[in-house]
Amino acid sequence: MTRALKSSREEVSAHIGNVLRSEVNKNADYDLEEWIQARVHISKGEIVMDVGCGNGKQVAVFSDLVGKNGKVIGADIFHQVPGLLNKAQEKLSEKTNIELLDHSASVSFPQSDHTFDVITSCYSIYYVEDIRATLKEYKRLLKNGGRCFIVGPAWDNSWEFYDLNRDITKQELPENFSARLWRINNEVIPASYEIFNRVEVSPFVNRVFFDGDNGVKAVEEYYRATLLFQEESEQEDEREHFVNEFVRRVKLEVEKNGRYVIYKRAIGLTLYKE
Ligand SMILES: C[S@@+](CC[C@H](N)C(=O)[O-])C[C@H]1O[C@@H](n2cnc3c(N)ncnc32)[C@H](O)[C@@H]1O
Repeated sequence: MTRALKSSREEVSAHIGNVLRSEVNKNADYDLEEWIQARVHISKGEIVMDVGCGNGKQVAVFSDLVGKNGKVIGADIFHQVPGLLNKAQEKLSEKTNIELLDHSASVSFPQSDHTFDVITSCYSIYYVEDIRATLKEYKRLLKNGGRCFIVGPAWDNSWEFYDLNRDITKQELPENFSARLWRINNEVIPASYEIFNRVEVSPFVNRVFFDGDNGVKAVEEYYRATLLFQEESEQEDEREHFVNEFVRRVKLEVEKNGRYVIYKRAIGLTLYKE
């Protein structure tokens, strides 16, 4: 399995990203979409694009916010992630004001200047090749008075979880995974101040709960997805050993406290084109 994964890292990252993101929103202190809306204030009639939309979770919410006179485009590298387009189409089948676009954020978009009121990108910008170029492109696409909202993991996102992984596997997370965690801090924030007229930075800490036996199963799936990053654990039996040890430790925690908790730490940026 690992060998096949090596052939398309972008595809694997995207797939894992989607698995992780759908898991982590199940049972948490805060709703990510409400938190986003409190910062970007999408309103009726607006034209919105959500880049790296995945299965369309945010597109569905934004579709309701803009209403029948507005429109939401959900863009993703659908052709590179098997099954993703179907998932998004299924999730959004009832929505009449949306469009799905197979497009990479690393490449210029087909729309003309001043098209959108709002551009959002949730847990996705750190996959692009050149963050500065992508942000410049978003600014081009925004109307004057438009805003862009970017959210991604903070450098210390879920460190307790990754520490546990390190303890079990005795391996560091792959460099490109750790490097991605730093991109919001090191690249997106400075480029945003350089490119946009006004920038607001919001930290977000969200406890995600995995309760009881079902929680143990869900967190096992989450851990398996994380392990896929670890090309070092090529041996299937070694991988299973890591999973078993992880599950054992999580079960101990659940027996003691009724739940296992992961602390998702994110940074949100509202960028204004004035
Ligand atoms: C972690 S998921 C986030 C999905 C969704 N926004 C959410 O928050 O649940 C990251 C998404 O970014 C997409 N992605 C990765 N590289 C991309 C690129 N270059 N252009 C557009 N989307 C990309 C992936 O396919 C995946 O759907």
